[in-house]
Amino acid sequence: MNPLVRAIVLILCIVMFYGCGYGRSDESEASPIVLGYSQLGDESTWRSQNSRSIINAADEAGIKIMFENAMQDPDNQIKAIRSFIAYKVDVIAFSPLVETGWDTVLGEARAAGIPVIIVDRMINTSDDSLYTCALGSDFDLEGRRAGEFLVREFEDSEKPVNIVELGGTADSTPAIGRYEGFRDVISEYPRFRVIFSEDGDFMLSKGREIMQQVLEEYDATEIDVLYSHNDDMTFGAIEIMRDAGIRPGVDIVIISVDATQRSINYLREGVVNYVIECNPNSGPRVMDLAKRIVLGEEVPKHLYIEEMVFDEYTDFDAIADRGY
Ligand code: AHR
Repeated sequence: MNPLVRAIVLILCIVMFYGCGYGRSDESEASPIVLGYSQLGDESTWRSQNSRSIINAADEAGIKIMFENAMQDPDNQIKAIRSFIAYKVDVIAFSPLVETGWDTVLGEARAAGIPVIIVDRMINTSDDSLYTCALGSDFDLEGRRAGEFLVREFEDSEKPVNIVELGGTADSTPAIGRYEGFRDVISEYPRFRVIFSEDGDFMLSKGREIMQQVLEEYDATEIDVLYSHNDDMTFGAIEIMRDAGIRPGVDIVIISVDATQRSINYLREGVVNYVIECNPNSGPRVMDLAKRIVLGEEVPKHLYIEEMVFDEYTDFDAIADRGY
């Protein structure tokens, strides 16, 4: 082939290759990566921090983010994902409200050749080629940690232990994991009895409402433990307990998940007895994954975020302000 023609063909190939957005050798030389992110809502302190973490990390990583808040409606998430596909973003990431109902839209993303990162919660599917990777918390472990704390807390007595549970959103991964992991542990001990369990959608107002309902059905002396799937619901329940003359953390042992600053303060004051961290600061890891995927690197299919627990023996002076 004539050298001039060969050079033109080579240039055209390079332009087409990079124009498709695949196999970028150095993302800083190319146009910025465009990430479509569908957040499930704004139901809790944890969620607001998680959104901040994602948006700030995108900014720091030089990634252009299209961020959509679905306000607790999975249909809004599906619409957002479809709009990202139409826009031809480089990567889609989303935090699914519930586990089911995603196969069709994720099939559309796959058909369009757009990789998908699942963040925080998981989806329930038999086809794991619908997503490139998933990064989130080990919710089952969080539930087991709650159960193991109770076993230790009540080891000196043989009396029955009556538990009230404030659950998260039905069919969501954290609600399922925290429910099942907890039961995996306490089912070994028949004296631990869950006398009341209801979904509170991870919202403070629902924590209030459900605790009110519980105190209409049960005398406070019949309740030994409140196990709440997140801090905001715990805060709502604490308000109602106080209004009813109950001393939270003393009359009723309280276990809460998330570890927001207010919850750590309550632990320090003895208002809450055990706090299980759920880490919302996934932003930098999501951006790192997005970059690696766009560069064509292999990434692990499932990744977990490191999390801690806090109890009365925690050295509170050593804990940095949580920032949320
Ligand atoms: O999916 C994580 C959970 O969702 C957090 O525990 C809760 O606070 C949030 O709303």
